[in-house]
Amino acid sequence: MNSLKGKSFLKLLDLTPAQIGGLIDAAAAFKKMKKEGIPHKYCEGKNIALVFEKTSTRTRCAFEVAAADLGMHPVYLDPKSSQMGKKESIPDTARVLGRMFDGIEYRGYGQEIVEELAEYSKVPVWNGLTNEFHPTQILADFLTIKEYFGTLSGKKLVYMGDARYNMGNSLMVGCAKMGMHFVACAPKKYFPDKTLVDECLKVAAETGAVLEFIEDPETAVKGAHVIYTDVWVSMGEPAEVWKERIDDLTPYRVTKKLLDVAGNQCKFMHCLPAFHDLKTETGKEIFDKFGIDCMEVTDEVFESEASIVFDEAENRMHTIKAVMAASFCDSLPE
Ligand code: CP
Ligand code: NVA
Repeated sequence: MNSLKGKSFLKLLDLTPAQIGGLIDAAAAFKKMKKEGIPHKYCEGKNIALVFEKTSTRTRCAFEVAAADLGMHPVYLDPKSSQMGKKESIPDTARVLGRMFDGIEYRGYGQEIVEELAEYSKVPVWNGLTNEFHPTQILADFLTIKEYFGTLSGKKLVYMGDARYNMGNSLMVGCAKMGMHFVACAPKKYFPDKTLVDECLKVAAETGAVLEFIEDPETAVKGAHVIYTDVWVSMGEPAEVWKERIDDLTPYRVTKKLLDVAGNQCKFMHCLPAFHDLKTETGKEIFDKFGIDCMEVTDEVFESEASIVFDEAENRMHTIKAVMAASFCDSLPE
């Protein structure tokens, strides 16, 4: 793959299929080294900042553990304790962090913020989730799909739910880049933005990917290798949208019936966290208000043999390790 040394990782559209494939292969190699207890301090002595303007379990832990395994020192800045955006502009913050750190992870709101951080800090910046994109998640998802199905090319991934947000967008871009068959399944108003769709169609014309937008769930999932879903209301969205989302997206909940229509080969994936039972505060609140005991996926599917969500979660760490190592090293394990 072309070297990513010195480069940021802001969105998958910026990478070639070979670069994405190279990161997935490097992640698989790092995973093997980790399992075999082989040290891999590829980035010894680097300091990195982890800036989180939204909460996180997986992404934060993945960056911290990966940083430690690579021999780096991570500094976590939580959603409340930095000056960023409130008392200090993004360009000023970026120039300060760029003087102290070798790399910066950012999770927050608009994509333009992470792009601006990269422009002004002059060090590699990694997108840990914006409203528009969640590219490190897609690498983990694709490593997981490769582990189960051997290849990515031609595999059919159906995304159910709000396909206009970070997960729907990023999966569409990733599938287009890797020659996969992507289906967004939702009511029309939840289909991805036309400009992004057009950009992905151009990519698809080169890679052989197929992109479809289908409103009927049973038509959409037939023959799917993966049914993927995400929360109906994302971080940072106002609580008022819950009612409309529940009304609009309940027909798109991933159920056992839908999995059966897809076929025996089909796996269930979710970036997590997921609302599949009443063991969360939000889950209980929604139950009290709307009387539903699960949202985007039933507990039956979440806990089923077809569900590979925890493999996916583990792979966040291995893939984020590859992303950081790629920004700092001339070559990666293969
Ligand atoms: N999937 C994901 O990004 O999880 P966190 O919000 O816990 O980081
Ligand atoms: N769409 C979700 C993804 C969480 C990983 C959110 O932005 O909250």
